[in-house]
Amino acid sequence: MNKISRREALMFVGFAGCSMLLPVILQHRGYAQRTDERVEPFTLAFRTPPVLNPVRSDSTTDYYQITIQKATVEILPGRTTEIWGYNGTFPGPTIKQRKNRQSVVRFINDVNTPTVVHLHGMTSLPQYDGYAEDLIPQGYYKDYIYPNTNAATFWYHDHAVHQTSRNVYMGLVGMYIVEDENEANLQLPKNDYDVPLIIHDKKFAADGSLIFDDQAEHSLMGDVITVNGVPYPRMEVANRKYRFRVLNASISRSYKLALDTGDDLIVIGTDAGLKSAPVNTKDMRIGMAERYDLIIDFSKYPLGTQVVLQNLGLPNNDNTGDTNKIMRFDVVREESDNSSIPSTLRNIEFFPESSAVRSRDFTFEQSNRLWVINGNVWDKNRVDANPELQQIEIWTLHNNSGLWFHPVHLHLIDAQILDRNGQPPFAYERGMKDVFYVGENETVRIIGKFRPNIGKYMYHCHNMVHEDHDMMSQFEVAQNGIDPLSEPAKPLPAPAL
Ligand code: C2O
Ligand code: CU
Repeated sequence: MNKISRREALMFVGFAGCSMLLPVILQHRGYAQRTDERVEPFTLAFRTPPVLNPVRSDSTTDYYQITIQKATVEILPGRTTEIWGYNGTFPGPTIKQRKNRQSVVRFINDVNTPTVVHLHGMTSLPQYDGYAEDLIPQGYYKDYIYPNTNAATFWYHDHAVHQTSRNVYMGLVGMYIVEDENEANLQLPKNDYDVPLIIHDKKFAADGSLIFDDQAEHSLMGDVITVNGVPYPRMEVANRKYRFRVLNASISRSYKLALDTGDDLIVIGTDAGLKSAPVNTKDMRIGMAERYDLIIDFSKYPLGTQVVLQNLGLPNNDNTGDTNKIMRFDVVREESDNSSIPSTLRNIEFFPESSAVRSRDFTFEQSNRLWVINGNVWDKNRVDANPELQQIEIWTLHNNSGLWFHPVHLHLIDAQILDRNGQPPFAYERGMKDVFYVGENETVRIIGKFRPNIGKYMYHCHNMVHEDHDMMSQFEVAQNGIDPLSEPAKPLPAPAL
């Protein structure tokens, strides 16, 4: 029964007595195909996604090219799975860039479905921001321009209107890292010791194919947790500090991270870059699309120690089976460590409440089987907030339901959490963010400055099933911004980059 959504459970209770209904629900939900495609945790080798080299570079810009294509890959041992991937991999290649160098990334669509690419966290102009209706059909390409104005862990993913959850589930996810001088000058763990962890849950049929089961547009809960595309990987580490860039790229699942040793996670970064100072925590929740930079210090462990990164589970996720595990670190070698964790990481300007010129309220709820914001679904012809450029606003995000949570994402801007249900945010959340975890019965107030661009930008719940049906809206900074649909995809063949 725990695999059945509340809506279905209620439906079922409503039809009490009619016990014929249950098999029908199970069939409809895809459980007929489900054969417990289990993977023994911590048996598969950890890997990191490939780093993408530019096609060419000039004094200001690096030019990249990525093809969105189908591929057949081995995720479960001995089985093959068809995915849609950036360059045919899941996750796609990582792009690494330096602050204030420009990137031009050409995305070529070779899959039989329209796609949109959004670089999550970037201050892109409206026509390069991956507007949900700015589709790249099969056989078309689009050159996206990214200014890289801020050092942080970004990620690129599909954003096609009403299809984002399926397209991302099929594999359209990649990391994008921007570094700056300040960060380079800190003695944080670097290179091989600065490692992406892209967490994403999947559900497989017996033949290895992906089951897309959004539980009647409610949420998608996989029963196999992957990290960088590998189920429950085992990573061999040295007895030293590592920096992990954790991205929750799941469709609907949030995680409560903790080490099974009970030792601390040291949080040094939030979505939009380094924190002002490190924060130690025993556990932390990470909603969909959030990024946290963590240091784990393996120096205290004798060789041979196994350290499990666990998921303690959160309400309104399916917390059954092996979903309480994520990956394991095996301390296998000694190495010297000249990295350190400075007590000041960078200067962050925290906006006082009094600097805000306006506040707005947004209620995230379910109504008539649709997910809505202030009662509305997505409409590209409607704008629900119109801040002025450089003005600071407070947005109050309401979730009055105990039955679900909503990680709320604003495009374009970074903001800070003022409070949650009137209490200060978790210490690990303090810093610049672009996703705000609005948990069950929570009201979260955020403060941010609308910059650096004018124009229309989306905001939405990052449970991509909610986003698709239709918990998404847009704000418009100032007036007369560039139309997000003004730079449409072009048919192939493409000229040289
Ligand atoms: Cu990560 Cu509007 O998206
Ligand atoms: Cu939601």
